Amino acid sequence: MRAALLLLPLTVFAAAPSGEETYKIRCAGCHERTDPRVPHRTALQQMSTQRILRALDFGAMMTVAYPLNRQERQAVAAFLGKNVPVPAPPASAFCADRSVKLAVASAVTSKDAWNGWSPRADNTRFQPAEAAGLSIDAVKKLKLKWAFGFDGDVTAFAQPTVTGGQVFVGGAGGIIHAMRADSGCLQWTFQANGPVRSSILAVPLGRQHALLFGDQTGWFYALQAETGKLLWQKKVEEHDAARLTGAPVAHDGVVFVPVASWEETRSLDPTYVCCTFRGSIVALRIRDGAQVWKSYMVGLPKETGKNKRGVPQLGPSGAGIWAAPTLDAKRGVMYVATGDNYSSPPTETSDAIIALDLKTGKIVWSRQTLPGDAYNSSCGTDKLNCPAEDGPDYDFGSSAMLVAPPGGRELLLAGQKSGMVYALDPQRQGEIVWQVRIATPGPLAVTSVGVQWGMAADGQKLYAASSNSGRERATDPLDIRRNIMDPNQGGGLTALRIADGSRAWYAPPIVCAQGAPSGCSPAQSAAVTAIPGVVFSASMDGHLRAYSSENGAILWDFSTAREFKTVNGVKATGGSIDGPGVVVSKGMVFVNSGYSRFGGMAGNVLLAFEPE
Ligand code: HEC
Repeated sequence: MRAALLLLPLTVFAAAPSGEETYKIRCAGCHERTDPRVPHRTALQQMSTQRILRALDFGAMMTVAYPLNRQERQAVAAFLGKNVPVPAPPASAFCADRSVKLAVASAVTSKDAWNGWSPRADNTRFQPAEAAGLSIDAVKKLKLKWAFGFDGDVTAFAQPTVTGGQVFVGGAGGIIHAMRADSGCLQWTFQANGPVRSSILAVPLGRQHALLFGDQTGWFYALQAETGKLLWQKKVEEHDAARLTGAPVAHDGVVFVPVASWEETRSLDPTYVCCTFRGSIVALRIRDGAQVWKSYMVGLPKETGKNKRGVPQLGPSGAGIWAAPTLDAKRGVMYVATGDNYSSPPTETSDAIIALDLKTGKIVWSRQTLPGDAYNSSCGTDKLNCPAEDGPDYDFGSSAMLVAPPGGRELLLAGQKSGMVYALDPQRQGEIVWQVRIATPGPLAVTSVGVQWGMAADGQKLYAASSNSGRERATDPLDIRRNIMDPNQGGGLTALRIADGSRAWYAPPIVCAQGAPSGCSPAQSAAVTAIPGVVFSASMDGHLRAYSSENGAILWDFSTAREFKTVNGVKATGGSIDGPGVVVSKGMVFVNSGYSRFGGMAGNVLLAFEPE
């Protein structure tokens, strides 16, 4: 019974946190100083509540705010900031004609769309020739067409959806933008409750279209694509640390929402009751948001002991789902890829590829590739909340790809943060057909060495970039980054033959140039994209590179780590590229640049390219 009570968030019983108290404990140590590197409290008091909250959620204060729950964030932002409305974009940022026309239902499924995480439900991130509209020669001639700045953000991490001449994209400030693909002018914006990084899925709804996406605070939305009007919103997960990062997918009037969390970093607070989050998929009816089913990846957590401070510890927990499910309508299932457990006991469903029944959400089979992986952020610091297993934190952070090579059997291809790539047999409960290591940890690497946000596959080969990076802990107490990136270590792109996993080629990483800004790293953790003849892989060094899928030679290279003149008049720079990858549609290439998390170079820009 005692354990059961503990399952409820403790904040239910505690008084609402005081913003002043939170400020004193968590902020004053730095913000009462007179140091030119730290804005003084009096400067923070000139900012809007929204801007301060944004700094805590996905801005400059993101790492500092890791131990703070939602209420504490809101309370401290309200205590410090001014309660003023967020300024609307200037009229000059909008199109002369603001109408959004996705006239036919098929616009969202049209052949040239990049709608959601991958152009098709197989999650291969492959755009076929006609839809891509780019030959190898055209790729070599790509030029910047327009840049769009995310006002007030230091991170750009939402993959755009491109369909019917439209771009729909979220941002760290929680704003959804509808804009024209050819010019980047705005048609409408919508303010969500929290940062939005999941890619947006457009689906027909009646005579119009719905845009489906989740935010970083557990809310899921349906907007009318034509107007930006809210159709419905639903909190799909009550856990305070929930975050909806993976893109939704839809089938037969139902949308499937993957649920992950940042509870791992909450554990940095030794008084935090670690851990209670459970990864899940939530199925909602697209029409009205009604829940059809919810399927958890681990059972109910129970008290397992206490940490050295006497704070209860709970488990099992974790197995968050960070990436879009892969639909296999033919077999009536979807495949999801799970992350690590956060506390003991570890479960058989962490670091696994799991098949769920589309109708019920029941687990049909589960293939774990790494047992016993329980980890949270305290393992890297005071270890007070660290489970006995202590990692190694090798999540699946990306979707499995369902491929059917010509003449070969169907395979599920999955890349793990461990550096392993697996081919599983969807016909035989995910039996492993082959496994290959594409990266090994270097001396300074922490956690991720292999596939982080996603691979790509064409008919013959798969392309896996390595997120391996070197990182050192910051020693300067005012350095708000938890890690400093090593400019010489990490990265690399491997092509494997799908049939047997043999290596076709390897394109080594390119180390950061002399004098590159701090935060530069050759790591390639962003998702990879393929079109016929070309593979796009972006790097934490800010470069976006196109490789020949034949031999890995670099065909085109564009450095995004600089200032850009933007179509909406916002001061914008590019930085590290991480998270989502490149989107290709109808002869245009889109990418977000700026990913300050993990010590990378900050940025706030969406870039669109077209051949000269
Ligand atoms: C370890 C020191 C440290 C702590 C603790 C800290 N800050 Fe900061 N804060 C900084 C530094 C340094 C900057 C300047 C960052 C920059 O300009 O890149 C900053 C900048 C900010 C900004 C401006 C961001 C922007 O968008 O311009 C806000 C708002 C802020 N802090 C709020 C907070 C709040 C609220 C807390 C407590 C929850 C907090 N900080 C705790 C060091 C700290």
